[in-house]
Amino acid sequence: MSLKLLFIGDIVGRPGREAIREWVPSLRREYEPDFVIANAENAAAGSGLTAALAQDLLNYGLDGLTLGNHIWGQKGFDAVIGGLKRVCRPANLPKRCPGQPFLILENKGFTLGVATLMGAKGMDLCGDCPFQAADALIDLLKPQVDVLVFEIHAEYTSEKMALGWYLDGRIGALVGTHTHVPTADTRLLPKKTAYQTDLGMTGPHDSVLGRQVQPVVDRFLDRMPRLLPVAQENVQLWGCLITLDPATGLALGIERIARGVA
Ligand SMILES: [Fe+2]
Ligand SMILES: [Fe+2]
Repeated sequence: MSLKLLFIGDIVGRPGREAIREWVPSLRREYEPDFVIANAENAAAGSGLTAALAQDLLNYGLDGLTLGNHIWGQKGFDAVIGGLKRVCRPANLPKRCPGQPFLILENKGFTLGVATLMGAKGMDLCGDCPFQAADALIDLLKPQVDVLVFEIHAEYTSEKMALGWYLDGRIGALVGTHTHVPTADTRLLPKKTAYQTDLGMTGPHDSVLGRQVQPVVDRFLDRMPRLLPVAQENVQLWGCLITLDPATGLALGIERIARGVA
């Protein structure tokens, strides 16, 4: 008996949402995942999420949505996130932040715990130490679920990789988000925790991390603030399919999944 989890990287803007609508149903048919999770921190106009868009994404076939440093990018989201049962905020934000710090999903009589940890290095929104937060979450959630999977939403590859080794053999998988560039280090660590530094982005890839190229280039050239609209072209979906053993809580395999790649 095994469980399959499809974990999809940051959904960016309308192109990213349309990619979910277009490709998740066929991914479900092809791979038959038991759970499909995606990071939705950029789903609304490239920054943040709304209750209506969360519901749209769930209707397209996602089981749960995670967030990151752009969590508060849409006005009023703090007032509604608490009512969204399949959306979780990063677990290591201050305790007083609204939103549930993890998800517990059920399928086939098994439970999957999912939590996002924010990196502490180079982020515009920092949480508590992700290593210590991971320890606390494991203590809290391991007795409650069959499999536990964490997402590390962070800028530094070193921080993500170090956390992977720190958690090896203690959780089913650690996958990275936030940098929007899929990494080719997809692997099972020696003690059977599945790992990838970054899942990549679901959105327009003729872009700089999902934003139109020219304004971003101009911003680097003159260092002046300006609007950075979401790009449109070359839409791709990136994620990982992780096979998990509910008897051990560890992983049996992990592979990169993509759609829209020429
Ligand atoms: Fe992102
Ligand atoms: Fe982010």
